[in-house]
Amino acid sequence: MQLRVRSVALEKASADLLIVPVWKGLKQQPEFQELDELWEGGLLTWLSQIGFEGNKRETAIVPSFGKLGVSQVLLLGLGDRKRIVADDLRLIGGAAYKKAKELNAKRVAILSEPFLTSFSPREAATTTMEGWYGATYAFHAYHQEAKQKESERAVQELLWIAHGSTNAKAIEKGADEAKLLLEGVHVTRDLVNTIAHEMAPKDLVKAAQEIADVSARLSITILDQKEMEKRKMGAALAVARGAANKPYTVHLVYKPKKKAKKRIAIIGKGVTFDTGGLSLKPSDGMVTMKMDMAGAAAVLGLFKVLPALDLDVEVHGIFIAVENAISAEAYRPGDVVTAMDGTTIDVQNTDAEGRVVLADALLYARQQEPQAMVDLATLTGACIVALGEEIAGVMGTDARLIERLKKASLQSGEDIWELPLPDKYADHVKSRIANIKNVGAKGQAGAIAGGLFLKRFAGDTPWAHLDIAGPAWTDRETRPDQSYGGTGFGVRLLVRYLQGL
Ligand code: BES
Ligand code: MG
Ligand code: ZN
Repeated sequence: MQLRVRSVALEKASADLLIVPVWKGLKQQPEFQELDELWEGGLLTWLSQIGFEGNKRETAIVPSFGKLGVSQVLLLGLGDRKRIVADDLRLIGGAAYKKAKELNAKRVAILSEPFLTSFSPREAATTTMEGWYGATYAFHAYHQEAKQKESERAVQELLWIAHGSTNAKAIEKGADEAKLLLEGVHVTRDLVNTIAHEMAPKDLVKAAQEIADVSARLSITILDQKEMEKRKMGAALAVARGAANKPYTVHLVYKPKKKAKKRIAIIGKGVTFDTGGLSLKPSDGMVTMKMDMAGAAAVLGLFKVLPALDLDVEVHGIFIAVENAISAEAYRPGDVVTAMDGTTIDVQNTDAEGRVVLADALLYARQQEPQAMVDLATLTGACIVALGEEIAGVMGTDARLIERLKKASLQSGEDIWELPLPDKYADHVKSRIANIKNVGAKGQAGAIAGGLFLKRFAGDTPWAHLDIAGPAWTDRETRPDQSYGGTGFGVRLLVRYLQGL
């Protein structure tokens, strides 16, 4: 799709569809009045007849009858000026794309002025275009007909109508930024959506290699099973044992041009398929488990865009790719496995495999001596119960780090909510035969137990854990910028976090 930003008069814009964002109480809005004059007041009369008020998410399509250089006008309600938040613009951008597709509009124009009462041109463009680009994503690797249909319907050109060249420049910058961010998000979504048979640990390694190859600022180290054995990564290796697909550890490094002012590690859970192991999942719970590497996929999405962001932070991206399968070799409930630092883990449930793998991943990350580390993991069903499908849990040992993540969450619209890691629950993960056990107390605080387990391996490195089991995947299309499958959660949040350092 081609994107242009131009300072042109409304009547001069030529397109199949003109999108006009409108506030509630249309009459006071100058761009709307301008439009209404072309209809000699008929537009407002008609809209009040059909009851269109400009409420949030309200839409109306008006044929232009030759009064403009566009064939149709789509009015998109923004609601109350005092009530709008940045994420509404993502929904607007997503809805705009979906509507344009529905109307088979190939050339679309959008009026930027209405946004500017509440947002800077840059922010308006970034967030709206995040929604737009998010909505353009479609995964049809296994569905040729749908792919064909999708490409026939795709919007080919988007024109942003700006007032003045300063605004136009800022809008262009914002739209470019959104495009870049969404390239990362789409990498993550593709990796998550690919079936586990084609996204085994070795395939995840290949994806990482390809990303690293593109930029001189990126380097990669890959450890195979032998090297992991040498390093005594006994916890991750135990989880991997039941699978024919061999495990790998992936370590990406981004080094800035200038001297780095900070060193940060981002760790992802990379379970390419989670059967539950011998503590086998019921069939219903297993169907979507190709998504259990969404944390690692978010790390890769981040590294896809890192070189272009030009941050002065050294970033280490780390994940251990394993499959949690069953076979005669599989690790067993009741086994005791030993992590890289000698910590013994009492495996009460082989389905709590994420934390067992992450134990070694966190220990490996600490060897890089980062000033802070953040892990992303589809760790617990309990976190979905606690916070629902659209909010990730955040836990950790460093209040400042958590504050930074919360700020990044507000900027990115990727919601997170803090859960405590109280000392008084430390006994939830206490084992009678080993240093720690991999499940918590029966029937309570499941997401927190995951956090408490990981905390031991984070040691005294400032650390935060994002339990993304809910928002990494969607079954229902709750927002126009998401579709069934992987959501790419975390990429934009991580970018904002790193930019805020
Ligand atoms: N990968 C799952 C968590 C999960 C569940 C992610 C649903 C996305 C959707 C994880 O490995 C797991 O199975 N966790 C167990 C932990 C329990 C055995 C302590 C769970 O949540 O049931
Ligand atoms: Mg599991
Ligand atoms: Zn899992």
